[in-house]
This record gives sequence, structure tokens and C-alpha cells, in this order.
Amino acid sequence: MNIIKVMDYAEMSDYACDFLMNKMENLQKPVLGLATGSTPEGLYHRLIEKKVSFRNVVTFNLDEYVGLDRKNPNSYYYYMNDKLFNHVDIEMDKVHVPNGSATNLEKECHDYEEAIREAGQIDVQVLGIGVNGHIGFNEPGTAFTSRTHIVELDVSTRQANSRFFDSMEEVPTKAITMGIDSIMDSKEILLLISGHSKAHAVARLLEGEINEDFPASVLRRHKNVTIVVDEAAMSEVKENK
Ligand code: F6R
Repeated sequence: MNIIKVMDYAEMSDYACDFLMNKMENLQKPVLGLATGSTPEGLYHRLIEKKVSFRNVVTFNLDEYVGLDRKNPNSYYYYMNDKLFNHVDIEMDKVHVPNGSATNLEKECHDYEEAIREAGQIDVQVLGIGVNGHIGFNEPGTAFTSRTHIVELDVSTRQANSRFFDSMEEVPTKAITMGIDSIMDSKEILLLISGHSKAHAVARLLEGEINEDFPASVLRRHKNVTIVVDEAAMSEVKENK
């Protein structure tokens, strides 16, 4: 794993933006895996500011809540439009976000996998990490062999995400997520980590065992991962002290 230590969130976002721009320039038809949450907002903001062209870009988002309409401001589809797609020249038929309102969710999972395969696999997957080590919505205990599937969200994840909702009760209990193995199929992974709240997760990721109790640990088996991590998030890593 290539670990890039940066000062803070702004520097992490700058680095991520340059990294992605460089990859996009060198690919004819870039296939990007995208994440939501607070972590990539700065990256998306910079891509918009720099007027990066998304004309030939195909995107696949990691996950979506089950039961939220795409027009719901808390859906990840809405987030992606709001934070990125509405502000760049992407063709919306090249955008893929799992449909958490699909009547047949199993079929939706299957079709999503198929669409990624048809696009020729993800060139660069952008990831954030949960305080419990989740990637996408793959909570602790998820099989490393998992593909796109429906998950029951951890209480800790629902609590962490409740900041976007009016109350904890409104946070959906289920989500659809690319599986661990689907993520590991990406040719390259860019993991962004910022802030004290992630310090324990970073220490566990870099110094703990590789096992399903901590989903992100699997990334140590991937041959092309870059982690951009700020000082606050590095603060519990022993080697760093
Ligand atoms: C979001 C996603 C999640 C987040 C993680 C960190 O699409 O897949 O795994 O990356 O929960 O969220 P933030 O960035 O809000 O701390």
C-alpha cells in the first residue's frame, strides 16, 4: 500500500483531485468507482472548480440506502447529483448508483455487477472508511468473497450517518452495496481518510490483522492501493509516534 501522509482535509482533497485528474487524462474511457459521505466532498468540489471534463467517464457508486427515493436529499443518488454530477459535463446514462427503491433488489444487485463487468471493471475506486472499518456499506463480519448485496446497517453506522437526517429513526436500516470482492476487483483503489474520528480505524487498518472483523483490512491484499491520510487520522498509528 502506498501511504501518502498529508496535513489536513484540504491537502487530502488536493492530492486526491490531482491523482484522479492524472488517471483520467491517461484513460480513453475512465471507469470511476465513487463514494459518498463527508470524505470525498472536497475532492468533488475541486474537480468541479478545475472544470475537469467527465465527457467520456463512466461512474459506479459504491452504495445506496434501501427505501429512499432518488429525489430524497438523503439518498446517495441525490448526493452525487448535488455534489458532482450537476456541475460537470457527465452524460447521465454513464452514471450508475444502485437503485435502493428497486422492486426486485436481488435482481438490482445482480444487474449492477453485470454493468460493472460490461464497463470493463473499475479503473480507480475512491473509498472512504467507516469508524468500524466498513468500506462501502460492508459492515464487520461481511465475507471477503461478497459481491453486490443487501445489508443490514450497523447501529454505529446509522448513528454516524444520522447527522444528515432529522432523527436516528429516519436513518434507513438497510442498504445496497458493492461487495468486498467487487471492490477488490477494481484495478486501483484510492482510500481517503481524514480526522481524529478515524484514528483508531487507521491504526487497525495499518497494524491489525487482516480479517473480516475489519473489512478495510482486506485492502492490504490489493496490489494497487493509495491511502491519503491526514495527521489527525494518523495519530494512533504506533510507528508514527
Ligand atoms: C459512502 C461509503 C462509506 C463511507 C464511510 C465514511 O459511499 O461507502 O463507506 O465512505 O462511511 O463516511 P464519511 O466520509 O462520511 O466519514
